[in-house]
Amino acid sequence: MNTIKKVTWQSPSNIALIKYWGKHGNQLPNNPSISFTLEECYSETTLAIEPKIGSSNEIELRFYFDKKENLAFRLKILQFFESIHKEFSFLRDYSIVIHSMNSFPHSSGIASSASSMSALALCLCSMDDMLNKRKTPKDDFFARASHFARLGSGSACRSVYPVMASWGKNKHIKNSSDKFATDCSDWIHPIFKTFQNSILIASASEKKVSSRVGHSLMETNPFATARYKQANDNLNTLIKALMTGDLDTFGEIVETEALTLHALMMCSTPSFTLMTPNTLAMIEAIRDFRESSQIPVYFTLDAGPNIHLLYPNKFKSKVHEFIDLELKQFCENGRIIFDAVGKGPKLIK
Ligand code: DP6
Repeated sequence: MNTIKKVTWQSPSNIALIKYWGKHGNQLPNNPSISFTLEECYSETTLAIEPKIGSSNEIELRFYFDKKENLAFRLKILQFFESIHKEFSFLRDYSIVIHSMNSFPHSSGIASSASSMSALALCLCSMDDMLNKRKTPKDDFFARASHFARLGSGSACRSVYPVMASWGKNKHIKNSSDKFATDCSDWIHPIFKTFQNSILIASASEKKVSSRVGHSLMETNPFATARYKQANDNLNTLIKALMTGDLDTFGEIVETEALTLHALMMCSTPSFTLMTPNTLAMIEAIRDFRESSQIPVYFTLDAGPNIHLLYPNKFKSKVHEFIDLELKQFCENGRIIFDAVGKGPKLIK
C-alpha cells in the first residue's frame, strides 16, 4: 500500500524587540526575548510521509527547497530529526519528503530559520496528531510546536503565535518558559497590533558570521553578565510600555537593544561587524526625521545590516514618503519589504 499522508503549514518570520543573543544547554536562552510576528515574510512547508520500501531503520529524508532538491538543508534537517526522533516515531517508520519555500527572496538578508523551523515544527506536530488520531488542544499544540521549533532554531519558537510572543522566564509574563514561547497578543496595547515593519535592505549578501557562531562568542564576551541583566531590565520596562502604549519608551528600548546586539558582536573575540555604512546612514536619517516630524518611527536590527523600521499604522503614508525620499537611496537596488505585524501561522491543508 502506497498511501501518502501530507500536511502543509505557512509560518512567519519574526523581529525581536528584546534580543536573544547567547544560549546554553540544549537551545536554552541566556535571557528572555520578545518579538513582533510578521505577516508577509513566511515559509511554506509541506511534510509528506509514505511507507518505507525496505526495512532500514535509518531516517529516510528528501528535502526540496523551491522545488529543487537541496542537500545542504537536508543535512541540517536530518541532524534535527536525529535529535528528536524519540518524540516523533514516524520519522523512522516512514519515508519523508519535505518541500519548503519562502515568500521572501533567498538573497534578501531576511533570516529564514525562524519561519522555516517553525513551519517544520508545526508540520511535525500536526502529522503526529494525524497518525495518532488525536487532536491536541490548541494551547498545548502550539506550546509543543514552539518547543520543537526552539530545538531547530531558538528564535523560531516565537513564530508560532500571532502579533507578539515572548520566550524565556519573566515574572510578569504568565506561563513564560525557557523551553517554549508565550503568546503576548492579549495583553499588549491595541496600537502595537497593527504596527508596521518596513525592512530596508542595506545589503543582501550572505552573512559573514552565522547566528550559531555569534551566540557561542557570548561565552567569552566580557560584557555577557551585564548584558543578560540589561536584557531582563529592558524587558520589564518594555512590558509596561507595551501595556500602556507608551511609544517613547518602546522606541528607546527597542533601539538600545538593536545597538547593544551589534555592540556585543563588535566586542566579542574575535570581533565582527554586520552593520554597513548604509545601515548607519539610515539610523541617522531615521533619528533626524523623528526629531523634525515628531512621528514615532523607530529602528531595530537583526543579526545583519538591514534596518527594520517600526511605526504605528496611522503614520504609514507619511513614513512611506520618508522612506522613498530619504532611505531608499541607501538600500541595495532600492530594495524594501513592506511588512507588518501578522496573524501567526496558517494550516494550509
Ligand atoms: C539576533 O534563533 O537564529 O535574531 O538558536 O542558533 O538558531 P539559533 O539562533 P537564532 O538567533 C537569533 C538571534 C537574533 C535575535 C532574536 O531573534 O532574538
